[in-house]
Amino acid sequence: MSHLLILIILFTNWNTIINSSTYIDSINQKVELKKEVYFILNTKCNFCHAKKKNRVIFTLDNMNSFSTSIEQQVFINKKMPKGRKNKLNMAEEEKLNIWINSLDNP
Ligand code: HEC
Repeated sequence: MSHLLILIILFTNWNTIINSSTYIDSINQKVELKKEVYFILNTKCNFCHAKKKNRVIFTLDNMNSFSTSIEQQVFINKKMPKGRKNKLNMAEEEKLNIWINSLDNP
């Protein structure tokens, strides 16, 4: 009897269970992507920005708010990362791009 009850509950709530788990999956993916992008910003950008005053140091807390200017500098003006030796590889560019597009920027 109790098995039957569980089955009925599962059956009637199946959609909600699936929806909330895909929702959580997508949140986890976003968090994971953000961490990976932070790793790129920290290794390929911060080392240089940290050398002079008044340049932004990207952190997990502030990176989203800089996404528009990062897009501008990296993909539109192509001024960053500065220096011939500091190019991003394709995987890094792609990650950065996916992250920028995942944010609800105007
Ligand atoms: C070798 C040094 C160097 C590296 C590496 C570098 N930057 Fe910069 N960045 C600068 C300098 C210098 C400026 C100041 C403006 C200028 O001189 O063009 C700057 C300015 C910026 C700005 C403009 C900030 C503002 O004032 O609005 C952004 C955005 C930026 N960098 C993003 C990045 C990103 C993203 C990366 C890594 C993918 C990166 N930079 C890597 C040197 C660097």
